[in-house]
Amino acid sequence: MRHLIVPSADTQYWLDTIKSNGWIESGLGILSLDDDMKAIPLNKTAPEEIDSIWQNLPLIELPREDKSAKHWTDLLDQELYDSLEDYWPRAYEIIGDVLIVKLEEEVYSHRKAIAEAMLEQIPNVRIICADNGVEGEFRVRSLSPILSRDGSNETLTTIRENGQQILIDPTKSYFSSRLSNERQGNLAAAKQLSSTVGRKITVCDPYAGVGPSMACLLNNHELIDSVLVGDLNPQAVGLLTQNIENYLARVDSRINATILCQDARIWKDDSKFMGAVDFLLVNLPHETLNHLSDLLPLMRKGTPSLIRGWAIIDRGVESSVQEELEALLLSKGATNLELTCQEIKGFSATKIFVRIESWQTFV
Ligand SMILES: C[S@@+](CC[C@H](N)C(=O)[O-])C[C@H]1O[C@@H](n2cnc3c(N)ncnc32)[C@H](O)[C@@H]1O
Repeated sequence: MRHLIVPSADTQYWLDTIKSNGWIESGLGILSLDDDMKAIPLNKTAPEEIDSIWQNLPLIELPREDKSAKHWTDLLDQELYDSLEDYWPRAYEIIGDVLIVKLEEEVYSHRKAIAEAMLEQIPNVRIICADNGVEGEFRVRSLSPILSRDGSNETLTTIRENGQQILIDPTKSYFSSRLSNERQGNLAAAKQLSSTVGRKITVCDPYAGVGPSMACLLNNHELIDSVLVGDLNPQAVGLLTQNIENYLARVDSRINATILCQDARIWKDDSKFMGAVDFLLVNLPHETLNHLSDLLPLMRKGTPSLIRGWAIIDRGVESSVQEELEALLLSKGATNLELTCQEIKGFSATKIFVRIESWQTFV
């Protein structure tokens, strides 16, 4: 394969020139040669060596082992890669067309090269952002855009999940694509509840974020009659409102939707929400156990109902959490109680992420 041989110091200039003309052989990295020279791989459309564009630099044939890069790190300069081998990011998260990556301090100054390699190797991604962690009471991510295909730093994006489009901006509202299975589980549980009570059900998700849980629940014509959703974060509620409107626009049947921006613990103070809910979702993992008693007045009485909640608890205390919750529910009038507390994944060395599922009839 032909390569343009350039002094290391001029690599970026030549790379930009070659890329902007569409002459780069994609999927192959730049090679480091002796005497501080670099070899940039050219595709078949690049001009011959005699062309004045090359300013008398040599074009030489160099064998390349594998034509297609398998990983974005294959596109980094080999010497650079080797010198920092332990620090390159091994994982990233993609939300829609936004790629979010945690960078170690040691490679932070090479973030542009990382982003270029990722954009080249991962076609559906539009923007690469450094992840500075979650912040604030709404656990929203702090992201630093590094590079985008279109020059825009926009982080508003759309994902497709369970047959629905969901608008998301990870800088405005918490969102985790890893909970997709749990959302599928909500749908199966909602169908089971609807079939048990023999009617459509009312679902409440007071910690809804942008509303991913409602995407599959509202994709179903005969399941839901009303949704009560909300979040304390106003920016999340903006996107939640758009998402709920979009979901409802695709369903024929008439579904009532209430969307609130307020603390979930005060929903019970409005009489129209008391005893209105068949299926309650409680997704505030650090606080689920503390908030639950304030949410129970929302549950409908005299009919089977369901609560699905997610919590982060100390490893090994599942059975005591289960007993504590059973005692709480029984004290609030739950009968025919069937409650499980099941680990879904590890959270840290000492903590686990659990799903609490409680079937009961409140009297
Ligand atoms: C773990 S996120 C879950 C979001 C969403 N259910 C999802 O799965 O993507 C918890 C959400 O609860 C919201 N929140 C925090 N405290 C709240 C409160 N007291 N009342 C209502 N929402 C709250 C946060 O803004 C955040 O969007």
